[in-house]
Amino acid sequence: AEDLLMNYKGMLYPRVLCNVDMFQALETFDAREDDLLIATYPKNGTNWMIQILHEMVSLVHNREILLDTQWIEFGNPEMLARFKDRPSPRILATHLNFKNVPRSIFEKKVKILLLVRNPKDTAVSFYNFHNNLDSLPSYNTWDSFFKDFTNGKVVFGQYFDFFATWEKHFNNKTMMAITYEEMKMDYPTALKKISEFFQLLLTEEQINLVASRTSFNSMKDKSENTHGKLGDSFFRKGDIGDWKNYFTEDQSKEVDALFEKYLADTKLGKMLNYDKYCK
Ligand code: A3P
Repeated sequence: AEDLLMNYKGMLYPRVLCNVDMFQALETFDAREDDLLIATYPKNGTNWMIQILHEMVSLVHNREILLDTQWIEFGNPEMLARFKDRPSPRILATHLNFKNVPRSIFEKKVKILLLVRNPKDTAVSFYNFHNNLDSLPSYNTWDSFFKDFTNGKVVFGQYFDFFATWEKHFNNKTMMAITYEEMKMDYPTALKKISEFFQLLLTEEQINLVASRTSFNSMKDKSENTHGKLGDSFFRKGDIGDWKNYFTEDQSKEVDALFEKYLADTKLGKMLNYDKYCK
């Protein structure tokens, strides 16, 4: 299982997608002022947000929908070179910890949307993902995954470290945070917030169109086209609260304590509405 993972500067990455050449090439990554960046911890709804931005950009810029998102850290330097020719606005995505994001993203004041999901559902989604993909280590038990999750021995590091670091550098000018849970509870309002933040201005009707094209069921239905045979692994349940089917009382308390320690008193932590979704 170990050889499925790569360690680069103390962080684990999936070897199937990441390599040292790419990480070195990223040191000179050239962001554009009008790039749009989605930053997420894994399993926080990245593919959902990617689809939303593609739908919005295609409506506003009269563009065909191509899921040509550039994952900052995935692939090889040749892909990065090809991405230089893409028309603006380019849609970028990353799971990188704030400290590893190429600096030109910040120098060019690229707008960054941080999508945040509660840690308990994130863990359950991540566990299932590991066991459904050949390219990540599988786990015989939920308990063994839970240990690695809380210790940060998973790709892209520990959930709490990821958010605590982004939180520390959060600014309201170029960054916006939105939660998976608020998107589930009031989708039209969430879509309006996203479109306004990126200045992808849409009519009410267009917002409704984006909503229907990016619903869980509609994305699951077309997942074979968008994600090939991995489709089922990316669109599993799409629910809030599945953690209750996995967590023991002790595990639940352990995550509560981590939340208290790292996030409870922060802006991102408060947005999570932790008591409502995690207790
Ligand atoms: P579950 O495993 O809990 O179902 P990512 O894209 O970052 O890998 O996140 C995957 C999670 O987002 C999965 O969670 C997936 O089902 C959920 N998801 C994907 N598309 C969604 C949508 N349109 N609406 C709600 N949840 C969605």
